[in-house]
Parts: sequence; structure tokens; C-alpha cells
Amino acid sequence: MLYYLLLFYLTQTVMCEKQPNFVLVLTDDQDVVLGGMNPMKNVRRFIAEEGVTFTNSFVSSPICCPSRASLLTGLYVHNHLTRNNSVAGGCYGENWRQNEHRVFANALKNAGYNTFYAGKYLNEYGVKHAEGPSRVPPGWSEWHGLVGNSVYYNYTISNDGVPTHSTDLYLTDVIREISINYIENQTKSQPFLMVLAPPAPHQPFTPAPRHKGVFSNVTALRQPNFNVVAEDKHWLLRMPPSPLPESMMSELDKAYRSRWEALLAVDEMVADVVQALEINALMEDTYIIFTSDNGYHIGQFSQVYDKRQPYETDIRVPLLIRGPGIKKNTQNPQPVTNIDLAPTILQLAGLEPKKMDGHPLELLKEEDNMERLMLVEYYGEGRDGTVDPKCPWIYDSDHLAECHPLYDCKCQDSKNNTFACIRHIADRVNMKYCLFADNENFAEMYDLSKDPYELENIVNEEFQSIVLWYRNSLVRLLSCKGREECDHVNTKKDSIDTF
Ligand SMILES: *[C@@H]1O[C@H](CO)[C@@H](O)[C@H](O)[C@H]1NC(C)=O
Ligand SMILES: *[C@@H]1O[C@H](CO)[C@@H](O)[C@H](O)[C@H]1NC(C)=O
Ligand SMILES: *[C@@H]1O[C@H](CO)[C@@H](O)[C@H](O)[C@H]1NC(C)=O
Ligand SMILES: *[C@@H]1O[C@H](CO)[C@@H](O)[C@H](O)[C@H]1NC(C)=O
Ligand SMILES: *[C@@H]1O[C@H](CO)[C@@H](O)[C@H](O)[C@H]1NC(C)=O
Repeated sequence: MLYYLLLFYLTQTVMCEKQPNFVLVLTDDQDVVLGGMNPMKNVRRFIAEEGVTFTNSFVSSPICCPSRASLLTGLYVHNHLTRNNSVAGGCYGENWRQNEHRVFANALKNAGYNTFYAGKYLNEYGVKHAEGPSRVPPGWSEWHGLVGNSVYYNYTISNDGVPTHSTDLYLTDVIREISINYIENQTKSQPFLMVLAPPAPHQPFTPAPRHKGVFSNVTALRQPNFNVVAEDKHWLLRMPPSPLPESMMSELDKAYRSRWEALLAVDEMVADVVQALEINALMEDTYIIFTSDNGYHIGQFSQVYDKRQPYETDIRVPLLIRGPGIKKNTQNPQPVTNIDLAPTILQLAGLEPKKMDGHPLELLKEEDNMERLMLVEYYGEGRDGTVDPKCPWIYDSDHLAECHPLYDCKCQDSKNNTFACIRHIADRVNMKYCLFADNENFAEMYDLSKDPYELENIVNEEFQSIVLWYRNSLVRLLSCKGREECDHVNTKKDSIDTF
């Protein structure tokens, strides 16, 4: 084993002769808690069984644009400043564009990599008020970025700055085709990075025609927190209707099974990508990473279906990696967040991750000291005037979002659904502490080792010194900058009463 590690080290960092390739598959809104990986037979066969599955993988924010910005830069939300899904909130806004050279692909490209992106980037990429689709983000030598947010048909792709519209080609299949062509053109002499970002299983959950009805008898998973009344949770969750009426259940079931069906094209894409890598003799030098930008809930605590919440359904994501030196068919419980992926990739390429908040994952070691405090940040959205006039909350539409009659007017977001959480994982610790920026200063705390479904908010039951320690640590994490600071918040044992 020691010999092997040494050999790996030598090939990776000293001899530098063969830098590995990377293929990162990034799905949109795919959960891991509610069985979101169940339909992915090929991903299981070609990535999980050939590599490592991380069983404690989280995101910096349970929403697309901020989370993608974290994955691309290795930074927490408070450092990349992409706070919500609109240009005004930093999603492909001016600040992002000025700092886009910090996206990890730039470092690889500068080191001689071919770099390729296909699919959804940041939600507002390519829109008129963010320089339009002629702007190709720096860092990519071949660019096929989707203009705007995930859709399945009727979209524009910027092909190296040339916008191309399609009405009737299923987007996941288009990404698959461009990707296979690209792989066929790669050689062993120049390393490459590919990011494949299909729309599935984002709303409206449209499957490819060949997959429609495949899961017609599947219903939404009813775990113990399904449609329970959330008396001890923050304001938005206590809004009526609670529980959801029986008449909503078929809508939830439909969303659940359509998501699975929409994922099947992604699963086929992964199989074809693996096959293309094998046919072109590139597989042995290639890491394949499979993950999602955030999780999803369907029916938990009387919510409808969405993300944007601090619960496990929304912040946990699948993370699977195969590649040179990684043991087959293993599970790894080390706590990971999506800000770790950029530094991990750079380190594997023999480059130094610079000015990132995350740290490289231990891909070769089993666990050792795995304590970690991870930060989750979310800025609640309100949508001026778009609360459906048929909903009684129209009077407060500036501060509420996603309230539709289809959801029985249960709102999915609000301005004061703004929160930060610590997700604390250690040898015998599995905790969550969240603080909301609302007029109740609401706090939630769960001991996931005893309460995996987050049924009991223990913030008033737990020793208050412990609660304060979490609060204090959360405040520190919210201003941490760089790996040293963000990693070591938990080891600074400052007195808890200084807060
Ligand atoms: C996004 O954030 C910006 C800046 O904080 C804010 O002006 C905007 O209203 C937010 N967007 C929504 C939809 O809440
Ligand atoms: C395609 O999108 C455009 C706007 O982007 C819309 O006007 C048009 O109706 C859509 N067509 C279809 C077939 O959905
Ligand atoms: C492969 O590369 C050649 C030369 O750069 C280019 O002309 C061709 O279009 C590429 N093919 C594909 C499928 O990308
Ligand atoms: C659907 O139901 C049939 C008949 O009961 C069963 O054989 C099949 O496995 C089910 N399919 C799924 C996806 O559950
Ligand atoms: C949250 O915002 C809504 C909408 O503005 C408001 O009605 C409600 O009182 C607020 N609740 C809390 C706890 O701040």
C-alpha cells in the first residue's frame, strides 16, 4: 500500500508526465435522500462499482446558481457573492464576470488542458443583461453553454459564442452527442477536462419520449417526515395548508416519477461517455465525477416539491468518483462539501489550489480524522408580483415566491426563508444547527444520529452552552476566507461566552 501511494505521488506530482483527464457530470436538482439515484443503473455500474461513493456529501447552498458558483470556484457563497438565481443577486452578474478567471477550469487550461463545457452553467448565463450568449466564459477551450436555466426543449446553446436555437432536440441527448464527439477527438498527449451539465431532473421533469411511462407505477417515497405538520419549524413551513390535502398526493407522485424518467437519459449518457472513453483508450487516465447542484424535497413536512430548505433532502447530494488509484466499489463517509471538488481536481492534476475555501478530498485513504463543520448559506427569494392572484397571499407578493394554485397556494420560498446552517459531522457526531434571518430569529437544531428525519427541533432542549457554541461557530464560518480559516473554525476552542 505504501509503495502504491508513493508511486501514485511520484506519477502525479514529480514526473508530471501524465496529467489525468476529468469528466464531471453535474445534474440539476437530483436528490440522494429520496431515492434520486435509484434509476441510475449505469451510473451505479460504471462509476459506483468502479470507484468510491461519498456517503456524506453536501452543498454550500440548496439552490442552483449559488451552489454551481461554489462548485466552480471552491468558494463559499459569502466569498463568491452569487447569492440567488438572478443577475441582481450575483448569478452571472458583473461581479461574477469580473472574477470568472477564478473558475477552476482556468488553472487547468493554463496548465495545458483542453477544457470543454456542455449544458447548464450559471442560470443567467447568456441573457441580454449579462453580456448575452456571445460571451464565452474564460477557462474553456470548447464551450457549449446553455442560455438561461434548465429546460429540455426550445433552448439556445452558445457554441463558442455562436448562439444556436433548437426547438425539438432533447437537450440531454444533445449534450451526450457533443460530448462523445469531443472524446473521439482527444488523444493521450494532451489532458482534458469535460463538464457535462444536463438539465435533468429539474422542473418541468420532461423525460425523453423513449422514457415516458417507464416508472408509471412508482409513487413518491413516504418517509416518516412525509406530509407531517411542521409545528417546530420556521415560519414558511408552518404556512397553510399543513398537512397538504390528499388531493395533492397525485401531483407529488407525478413529480417523483417524472424526475426518475427524466434521469434515464442522463444515465444513458454516462454509459455512452464511459464507452467512448474505453474505445479511445482514455479510461485508465480519466477521473469521472458524478454529482448534483442541490437536493430536492417532495412532500416533507407538508411542503410541495422544491429545494431551498436546510433539511437533508435539499442539502445532501450524490457524489461518486472513479479513476486512477481509487479503490473499486467502496463507500467513504468523510464529510464533503461541493467547495472541495475544485481543489480536489486541481490537486489530482498536480496543481496547487489557490485562494479556495474547500480542501482536496482524501481519495486514496480510508477515513482518519474526519471532523468537519460545513457551512450552508441560503438567501430567500421573493418575486415581485408573481404570487398567483388566485392565492390569498397576493397582498404580500413582494416577500413570497412560488405560490401557485397547483400547490394549493403553499409557498415554496419567501424573503425571510434566509438562513445559515452548520452541518457538523465527526466520529460520533451528526448534528445540524440553523439560524434564520427572520423576525423571530428562528433557530433549528437536529441530532441526526438519533433523528435522521429531522422530526424534532431540539434547539430549546439541548444544553444551551452547546447551542451557543454552534451559534458562535456559525458566525465565524459566515466570515471565513480561505481553507485555513474555513477548515479550522471547529478547532478554535474560544470561550463560548465571548459571543
Ligand atoms: C436576489 O438578490 C438581489 C440582491 O440581494 C435582490 O435585489 C433580489 O431581489 C433577489 N432576487 C429575488 C428574486 O429575491
Ligand atoms: C419557445 O420559447 C419561446 C421564448 O423563448 C416562446 O416564445 C415559444 O413559444 C416557445 N416555443 C415552444 C414550442 O415552446
Ligand atoms: C476534431 O478536431 C478536428 C481538428 O481540430 C476538427 O476539425 C473536427 O471538427 C473535430 N471533430 C469533432 C467531432 O469535434
Ligand atoms: C410496476 O408494476 C409491475 C406489476 O406489478 C411490476 O412488475 C414492476 O416491477 C413495477 N415497476 C416498477 C418500476 O416498480
Ligand atoms: C416572513 O415573511 C412573511 C411575508 O412577508 C411575513 O408575513 C411573516 O410574518 C414573516 N415571518 C417571520 C417569522 O419573519
